[in-house]
Amino acid sequence: MPNSLLPRSRAPETPDSNPLGGVRSTYPGPRAQISRDANLTWWRRILPIISSHRLTFVASIVLSFVSLILQTLVPYLLNGAITHALQKHNASLHRAVVEIVVVGALAGVTGILSRQYLYRTAYEVEADLRSLIYEHLTWLSFSFYDRVQSGQLISRANSDIRSVQMYSTFAPLILVQTSIGVLAFGFMLKIDPLLACIAMVVMPILYVVGIKMRRVLFPISWITQSRLADVATIVDENVNGVRVVKSFAQEEAEINRLADAAERVAWAYVKDAQIRGQWSPWLQNLPQLGLALVLAFGGFMVINGKLGVGAILAFNAYLLMLQAPFMMLGQLVMMGQRAKASAERIFEILDEHPEVIERPGAYDLVDVEGSLDFDHVRFGYGPDVEILQDFNLRISAGETVALVGRTGSGKSTVARLATRFYDTTEGAVRVDGHDVRDVTMASLRQNVGVVLDEPFLFSVSVGENIAYGVPGATYVAIEAAARAAAAHDFIMDLPDGYDTVIGERGYTLSGGQRQRIAIARTLLVNPPILILDDATSAVDVHVESTIYDALTTLMASRTTLVIAHRISTIALARRVILLEDGRVVADGTHEQLLATSGLYAEILAQTIVEDL
Ligand SMILES: Nc1ncnc2c1ncn2[C@@H]1O[C@H](COP(=O)(O)OP(=O)(O)OP(=O)(O)O)[C@@H](O)[C@H]1O
Ligand SMILES: [Mg+2]
Repeated sequence: MPNSLLPRSRAPETPDSNPLGGVRSTYPGPRAQISRDANLTWWRRILPIISSHRLTFVASIVLSFVSLILQTLVPYLLNGAITHALQKHNASLHRAVVEIVVVGALAGVTGILSRQYLYRTAYEVEADLRSLIYEHLTWLSFSFYDRVQSGQLISRANSDIRSVQMYSTFAPLILVQTSIGVLAFGFMLKIDPLLACIAMVVMPILYVVGIKMRRVLFPISWITQSRLADVATIVDENVNGVRVVKSFAQEEAEINRLADAAERVAWAYVKDAQIRGQWSPWLQNLPQLGLALVLAFGGFMVINGKLGVGAILAFNAYLLMLQAPFMMLGQLVMMGQRAKASAERIFEILDEHPEVIERPGAYDLVDVEGSLDFDHVRFGYGPDVEILQDFNLRISAGETVALVGRTGSGKSTVARLATRFYDTTEGAVRVDGHDVRDVTMASLRQNVGVVLDEPFLFSVSVGENIAYGVPGATYVAIEAAARAAAAHDFIMDLPDGYDTVIGERGYTLSGGQRQRIAIARTLLVNPPILILDDATSAVDVHVESTIYDALTTLMASRTTLVIAHRISTIALARRVILLEDGRVVADGTHEQLLATSGLYAEILAQTIVEDL
């Protein structure tokens, strides 16, 4: 169903946690939220999410611990077997083999289980973080989206979620592995303390080399990430903006732009490979040096009869076992730095508060008659520019009013304030005398329907698009709404009628067809107050008058605010309001304004020229 396209908000837990409190959904959401206390360190803020999966997480850590202990036991048993069964002949070889096989198998099984639990935790944590972010994004107000590039934001959020998830679930595992190194060292000490110390000589060097390599690799991997994001942005713009690119014949320039960006990515990858090429041989071969030392000193001891051959084999196995944790320990530091930066970017989004929120105790608007009142309204999108200055307008229930003004005079702004997309700086907007800030947002938007000038359609069927606000509407209702919007006839001409799937953003339809579907979508909700913001600008005059005829006859009791440029549309309203410099400068019938207002005549003269 269409409502599955966008996540809807959950039921509120605290009054300010969900500004769309009126909308209920069956989506259960993540099991926990991040800590709201911005003073905590980043991992303490993430902790509630991890601890909501503590069962699988702790299980995976414990199992991994068990598995590693069993693994460390194997070389020890091997040493005993070689010494006692092969050299001294005072123990059974058969028994030793069985012991090693059983311990090895148990280590394998616990290892598999630990990994399964760990991956489950990791991906559940990732899913939780993702839903938290997307859910939060749907709560944020319009003003947030005015400020940010939402596409960039979402793609960035994805890689940040991944790096936080990796660190918070895998870091504890690496620490467990390192702690096992202590156990392995203990076994080595037990076999021979001196040789244990000699064998460990290269480990600190391995750690230092690991750290050094990450330190030079780290900036490069950041550069690679950001350059990959640049490529993604260019590809995204070229796909979404393909019509603009082609119409200005800029294909070649775009190809060059992409090639440049791709080259920059290639440079970063080559640099990365060079650094790895320089450092990796050290990391791979240092442990061999350790093995050589063990062979030299241990071999000497064996020749002098002070050590069994088995000990050399066991040391060999331990050194290989220790190699990984020592290298990873260096990696852990870098992963931690990256996770911290990522977590901070995630918090930047999650700490963003919606500016338009529902008041505690907000009530539902019911039985709306349809009066709309702007009372001494002041408003600006930012603190610097004031768009509406002492804007006063009272529209009675059932009235049809046209709002006219120069482009950029603030007409759409008036529509956005009536639906509370933004809050006024001063003054109030009232529906039936109720301040829009006192009522639930869902009920307000059910009662004040707005058709925007840029209709956005989803890539689902025409019918589902019309039913977007009323999921589960009957076919009869959908058709009635489409007829009122003068859309039924062209929809029936589409290949599958109401089941025709619309191409992305409705590009398979004409501008006027998209507008009519958008009108039908709002009419289906049947709001007592209807605002049409340039909603018929792409429809021809004849179809437009059909739509307005239908509107007037179908719902005579509806309050309608029409924002229009065309004289034919304006003339449909009995009352016309002229907006200039954020104020109402004229209010009357079309004829009255024409006779008294020079500005009105001027604006209309321009639109007539445009119409021609
Ligand atoms: N989201 C926004 N953020 C900042 N400024 C905005 C925003 N939307 C509009 N404005 C500014 O507010 C002013 C009024 O814009 P508005 O869209 O209300 O004009 P309009 O009367 O609807 O114009 P048009 O007839 O061209 O549709 C303009 O100067 C515009 O630049
Ligand atoms: Mg506008």
